Amino acid sequence: MQLLHLDSSVLGTASVSRQLSAELVARQRALHPGIRVVSRDLSADPALHLSGAHMAAFQGSATDDATITADLLKGNAYMDELFASDVLVIGAPMYNLSIPTPLKAWIDRIAVAGKTFRYTATGPEGLLKNKKAFIASSRGGVYSAGSPGAAFEHQESYLLGLLAFLGVTDVTVVRAEGLAFSAEAKEAAVARALENIADITV
Ligand SMILES: Cc1cc2nc3c(=O)[nH]c(=O)nc-3n(C[C@H](O)[C@H](O)[C@H](O)COP(=O)(O)O)c2cc1C
Repeated sequence: MQLLHLDSSVLGTASVSRQLSAELVARQRALHPGIRVVSRDLSADPALHLSGAHMAAFQGSATDDATITADLLKGNAYMDELFASDVLVIGAPMYNLSIPTPLKAWIDRIAVAGKTFRYTATGPEGLLKNKKAFIASSRGGVYSAGSPGAAFEHQESYLLGLLAFLGVTDVTVVRAEGLAFSAEAKEAAVARALENIADITV
């Protein structure tokens, strides 16, 4: 059994999503002794933004650009790690109403027609089967359903939509929000999220 642990916060040891994703990994280790963990710090070592040069090389054109070649190899490694993993733990803070760009760059490498999804006569079909995912979500404001900010929530909803598009529908979101409201609010939100993680049984 393999777990892929992704972090994308730029805030290092001060990051709440990193704290929560680490706890999620620890919980999975406790529930599944012997589980192999592969970690990617997408913020420390991001893939490049997509470019014309990248797409041309990805589609088979020869390139003598070492940067592009290294980036293609990184994308291949992302894909191999994803397929080899049964469990995904994704540290995903909200940045500007959405996800951090290094996490988007990871998605841009693994969402590939013919590999992780395909188009059929009746529409798209996700090809990632039998995987479960956990999202460690953190955000300064409040965007939960029913709140005034809900219409601006493009972080969890985007990730849930993307994962479902690829076939991953067994997804648990652990959320700490309202972190910017006050120190007390942050402490309470993180404590609640940690309790939610402790309650996970699968
Ligand atoms: C670049 C940047 C953009 C942010 N944008 C938002 C935002 O749109 N909405 C929000 O509620 N919080 C926003 N925040 C606050 C973060 O969501 C909050 O600090 C959260 O704890 C970040 O997760 P992290 O601690 O894992 O980095 C932003 C923070 C940064 C650094």
